[in-house]
Amino acid sequence: MASKITIRRLEPSDDRASFRSGNVDLDRFFQRFAGQNQFRHHIGTTFVAIENDAIVGYATLAASEVTARALPVAKRRRLPQYPLPVLRLARLAVAESAAGSGVGSELLRAVFVLAHRMAKDLGCVGVLVDAKPGAEAFYERFGFFRLELEGGELGDRPAPTAMFLELGAIPAPTA
Ligand SMILES: CC(C)(COP(=O)(O)OP(=O)(O)OC[C@H]1O[C@@H](n2cnc3c(N)ncnc32)[C@H](O)[C@@H]1OP(=O)(O)O)[C@@H](O)C(=O)NCCC(=O)NCCS
Repeated sequence: MASKITIRRLEPSDDRASFRSGNVDLDRFFQRFAGQNQFRHHIGTTFVAIENDAIVGYATLAASEVTARALPVAKRRRLPQYPLPVLRLARLAVAESAAGSGVGSELLRAVFVLAHRMAKDLGCVGVLVDAKPGAEAFYERFGFFRLELEGGELGDRPAPTAMFLELGAIPAPTA
């Protein structure tokens, strides 16, 4: 189990250059684009996991939407046909040095708290994730299921798998 991990929004002064997850695309995104997307373009916000003053993981989020017909029949009952607001987990990466110590789970739990906050403040029917090949089973452990959506909207290759977890299946924050 990891020592104490803090999760907070990325700040402009954070050192992103030394982050290594083992996935060059995720590292490049964090180093080159996460800051400008958040501070200049306002198209997504990155949350970082800090352990012993070092960034050991990050999750990039953005508001997005799905259409009800992309959801399995049992999950779309009574939902309107127009686009539905979701919280999109666009990227998630853990530093190689911290892999397997609970950082990814910790970041995902922070995303769940934000999904409930978004539901209250703006509306949100669940969390949508673009799972990288090999990461699908990680999300399935938390109850995510695959959606019949076109993958690869981010232009990543190989294309990610769209996965979804509805708000009702996300544990509500305790405090
Ligand atoms: C996938 C990733 C985010 C997991 O983060 P992590 O901090 O290593 O995961 P955790 O330590 O919280 O693991 C929680 C559980 O999930 C399991 N797990 C971790 N990665 C897994 C994977 N790819 N597939 C299946 N299970 C996985 C762990 O074994 C652990 O199981 P346990 O509770 O029985 O011990 C991380 O490995 C990573 O950054 N990988 C490279 C980039 C990537 O694939 N990102 C996801 C893209 S969307």
